[in-house]
Amino acid sequence: MIQSYNRNYPPHFAEKYKGIPYLFLDTPKFEMDENFHDVWNEYKKPVLRLRTDERDTMTFEEAAEYKKKNPKWTNQWTDAIWDGIVAHSTGLSDDRWSESRIDGYKVLPKFFKSLHDHLPILRLTQVLFWSNNRTVGMHKDFNEQFPWPSSIRIMIEDHNPEPTFFLMPIADDFKTIPLPEDRSNLIQLPHKDTPSNAFMYNNKNFAHGALKIEGYSKILCSLSIDYDWKKLEAILDRSIEKYGNNIV
Ligand SMILES: [Fe+2]
Repeated sequence: MIQSYNRNYPPHFAEKYKGIPYLFLDTPKFEMDENFHDVWNEYKKPVLRLRTDERDTMTFEEAAEYKKKNPKWTNQWTDAIWDGIVAHSTGLSDDRWSESRIDGYKVLPKFFKSLHDHLPILRLTQVLFWSNNRTVGMHKDFNEQFPWPSSIRIMIEDHNPEPTFFLMPIADDFKTIPLPEDRSNLIQLPHKDTPSNAFMYNNKNFAHGALKIEGYSKILCSLSIDYDWKKLEAILDRSIEKYGNNIV
């Protein structure tokens, strides 16, 4: 089932936060529990597609058949783009992907407490830890396509020698494209000495993509939150005041 959460966002957000590709959030740095790497190494699994969705209608059988004839072709059914862990999930979660599950509240209590302490959470719907093992083309996430920076991520660690997360402004009819060879025109998310390790990006008016540099990796935490709108607006405003709006 695909989420319908956050569709009731305050209408003035669209105008107030128009044109903002991403924001670093004015929150304390989110620190991981000491056991995080043990948990990650033990439970991370390749994330594979389990269901079609309206954007990606090729079935497993069709993909497997095509793959037989075109071994170099990659697809989400048989070649995992990501390794990942689902650390929290509810009935409203995205069920298109295979899951290696842990109970984040039990296994990573410090991190989960800090989420509730510092983020505008009415309800935490899903928490994923994902690490991409291929380059990810410029795309919009299926969920949360809103005209303000609504999609929230925490960079748990990033060992890359250069920025690997990119955004670009797009038209409404945009379709996924490969990550451009020449990335000089893309908006790049700084990756070293960032003011915060939490950021939010606009998943409607901008597409995003990720570069994989062989031999290097990062782990990103992807959160789905039913927001407390008053608290969210306060955080967004404080963040813009402190770290700028990144409008280009
Ligand atoms: Fe994405």
